[in-house]
Amino acid sequence: MAAPSRLLIRGGRVVNDDSSQVADVLVEDGVVRALGRDLLPPGDAPAGLRVLDAAGKLVLPGGIDTHTHMQFPFMGSRSVDDFYQGTKVKEEMKILTQDKGVNSFKVFMAYRDLYMLRDVELYKVFSWCKEIGAIAEVHAENGDLIAEGAKKMLALGITGPEGHELGRPEAVEAEATLRAITIAGAVNCPLCVVHVMSKSAARVIADARRDGKVVYGEAIAAGLGTDGTHYWNREWLHAAHHVMGPPLRPDPSTPDFLMNLLANGDLTITGSDHCTFNTCQKALGKDDFTKIPNGVNGVEDRMLVIWEKGVHSGKMDENWFVAVTSTNAAKIFNLYPRKGKIAVGSDADIVIWDPKATRTISAKTHHQAVNFNIFEGMVCHGVPLVTISRGKVVYEAGVFSVTAGDGKFIPRKPFAEYIYKRIKQQDQYSLPEEAGLEEWEEVNGERRLERAMRRSKRAKVMKRKPGF
Ligand code: URP
Ligand code: ZN
Ligand code: ZN
Repeated sequence: MAAPSRLLIRGGRVVNDDSSQVADVLVEDGVVRALGRDLLPPGDAPAGLRVLDAAGKLVLPGGIDTHTHMQFPFMGSRSVDDFYQGTKVKEEMKILTQDKGVNSFKVFMAYRDLYMLRDVELYKVFSWCKEIGAIAEVHAENGDLIAEGAKKMLALGITGPEGHELGRPEAVEAEATLRAITIAGAVNCPLCVVHVMSKSAARVIADARRDGKVVYGEAIAAGLGTDGTHYWNREWLHAAHHVMGPPLRPDPSTPDFLMNLLANGDLTITGSDHCTFNTCQKALGKDDFTKIPNGVNGVEDRMLVIWEKGVHSGKMDENWFVAVTSTNAAKIFNLYPRKGKIAVGSDADIVIWDPKATRTISAKTHHQAVNFNIFEGMVCHGVPLVTISRGKVVYEAGVFSVTAGDGKFIPRKPFAEYIYKRIKQQDQYSLPEEAGLEEWEEVNGERRLERAMRRSKRAKVMKRKPGF
């Protein structure tokens, strides 16, 4: 029997980033068609309409995971979780943006001799992103220091997973974060720092935002839900399964700190950085931590972990949860309000969430292909009951019903207003270097750059005069 093409989600509390209301949601052809009280009179549902009772439950916009690596060929291995529809794109950034709907590009400051870009290359990429209206995303860690730190650890005879963090401590992440923000600032390119893992890197982002920079920080489930004390676990495999870059930090107060920043807006979006390797793949590095493929799970756990550590703990409310798991990403990547909101006309990507149910995360019961879960044993108060993707129920009562190829790439337009309105205004208002220099203007009676340019002109004239 064909699945009904219409759905009515009845009596739930519909939660958007700005408000919550008890309402029915009518879905037709993958889109929200109506939203309001008592859309269906009591009695039997008409043929072709499936009714999902959501009384006492929350009805949330589907989560947007801003960062995953499916079937990622990496460090001599390939991440084990796949995605049913991939995109292979090797052409110019401009073509990708203008013709193919790609409006964000991730660059690496880590992984020397593989992906790492030097400052001048970053400058070029950021300039280009700005010109074509994209947002630059950066993996911010100093690749040279990582390589030297690793050599130092191995020379000391530290070959186990703890050497992974010892060789690339917080400062390595914080330095690169500041450098990326400085270089992006030089061309006023909007920037997203992905997988912010340390207190010091997060502070750098918070400071830059206070200085008016258009920069966003992405927290990930791993950094919010666990910490780097696992690298010292007696079991080599347990420790190796937590190896990722930037590393989890051994300071156990880090997850709480990052969650506080997510709750106060200093960090804006959340991903999973899902990049999973099974035990036998992690074992490639049993004699040398630099050979352990980097990456951990989180695509299935992200919403649960953020609800548990963010909402259940009282740090954020249900609306803020929607903002950081869905709406903010939709705005930054120019998908809003099609995604990131439950409203008439939006795509019917919806989660029915039970805030009273509990689930214990475990590799034994999760649906991810990987045979380990870094959140093993975490009791989560708040559980997804039903997941709807473009109007189709894809998860219900613990069972997935997805088909390869069901995923759909959504082209995204450049110059997302949410980020570029400010960028354009800043460009018009003043050259970036000059912003906020009123005091200098007072002292000098004229703008610093104008003054410097005039001086250079005078020098040119002087050069032409005999005697100079
Ligand atoms: O360790 C990680 N994060 N693996 C995925 C690749 C990356 O750097 O994002
Ligand atoms: Zn990365
Ligand atoms: Zn990543």
